[in-house]
Amino acid sequence: MTAGPARLEFPDGFVWGTATASYQIEGGASADGRGPSIWDVFSHTPGRTLDGDTGDVACDHYHRWRDDLSLLDELGVASYRFSVAWPRVVPTGSGAVNEAGLDFYDRLVDGLLERGIDPLVTLYHWDLPQSLEDGGGWLARDTALRFAEYAGVVAGRLGDRVGHFSTFNEPYCSAVLGYGSGVHAPGVRGIETALIAAHHLNLAHGLGATALRAHAPRDVQVSVVLNVAQVYPATDAPADVIAARHVDDLANRIFLDPMLRGHYPETLLEETSRHTDWAFVHDGDLEQIHVPLDALGVNYYSPSRICGPRPGLSTDPDAAPSTGRWIEDPTAAGKPTPVPWPATDRAWSVPQPGPYTDMGWRIEPEAFTDLLLRLSNDYPELPLLVTENGCAYPDGPGPDGRVRDDRRIDYLRSHLAAVHAAIDKGADIRGYYLWSMLDNFEWALGYRKRFGLVHVDYDTQVRTPKDSAWWYRDVIRANTVS
Ligand code: FCB
Repeated sequence: MTAGPARLEFPDGFVWGTATASYQIEGGASADGRGPSIWDVFSHTPGRTLDGDTGDVACDHYHRWRDDLSLLDELGVASYRFSVAWPRVVPTGSGAVNEAGLDFYDRLVDGLLERGIDPLVTLYHWDLPQSLEDGGGWLARDTALRFAEYAGVVAGRLGDRVGHFSTFNEPYCSAVLGYGSGVHAPGVRGIETALIAAHHLNLAHGLGATALRAHAPRDVQVSVVLNVAQVYPATDAPADVIAARHVDDLANRIFLDPMLRGHYPETLLEETSRHTDWAFVHDGDLEQIHVPLDALGVNYYSPSRICGPRPGLSTDPDAAPSTGRWIEDPTAAGKPTPVPWPATDRAWSVPQPGPYTDMGWRIEPEAFTDLLLRLSNDYPELPLLVTENGCAYPDGPGPDGRVRDDRRIDYLRSHLAAVHAAIDKGADIRGYYLWSMLDNFEWALGYRKRFGLVHVDYDTQVRTPKDSAWWYRDVIRANTVS
């Protein structure tokens, strides 16, 4: 007799959820006084997104939120992670508050609470008001101050019912894809610009966390969500080990160190000194950034293998694609050549063997366990939340209307097992938010990449829960993966 599949029971009180983001699902781009964001402008610029897709309508969640709450209810999630669109609440990024925009989130929060679902609210999931971008965006220090004002407005209005806020989602992507490789809005390329943006995002995080606590009418939990990169040197060669450490600085410790330790990594300052003198870090900034947090949100999809300089590799940072987002499958495309890591001339990302998801991202659940254990060892005082994990596959309804997305179920099963393994080894992981509740606007890749538990027909807006949705519902009910 062979043993059946392992039954992995999660700790009591483990929080099961799903996650979305405003620009990816809401639509209603100019409804009720919403101002334009950098993603509206970027996606409407020819050539910036696949098929010229925009978030104008997306999943029309702005109008269909009640139906979407019913879906969450059917799944049985304990919590729902969503983001507030800054340009809906403060259309020009500073000054006048748009009450109608706040009303939308007010109703959403009430609707969640009526269904017994706990909201986890992200303040910034990449949709900066365009007016602020016109004044320099994240290259302007002032944007951090405007963010703190906006954080205070949201906390004042929702903080009586929302018990947990995250300041930022993946500031790495905002800084490095937005102001480094330029494949995300606002499309700026450069090395120094990415570093300046990262610092201003850090400052905004600290000021925002302080504003949240000052303006919420009761005690709220505050966290940040980082896509901490799980990087491995491609070989044991010293050049590769150094390059992997450099990427760890540039992708991870550039946020983790100031936020959780109150300084920037010395090696990062040294290794970027050719590009910047870091004069944009003012006296007192690090104290403002280094504020107590209640949890660390971690997004994980896939690991990276890094190498250092090798003969023949391009050192032109302009040649860097957005590693891990655009590369579909470099091996299959006949280009097994390492590509420059964005916003640096010191490290390259080495194509990895499959299996891949539809994003071309390698599937490696063991790397997820490694990542969670690293964070738990480095920051034992901080509870962890998996704030995103999931996969894209193109499956749609078959002739019988059912969406058979077995590959998603396999991915989820193996990645939940990876979370369980980390808990078993002592990591304090409090919950798991699956990305995503719905198929949605996958940024520069538009609507082609489907991450949802629920299929969306973008012509009719019909929602169809996939097989994985029912599988996840059963996991939640049993608090067990089998
Ligand atoms: C993360 C983003 C999220 C989604 C997933 C696939 O980097 O936070 O909005 O695009 O990737």
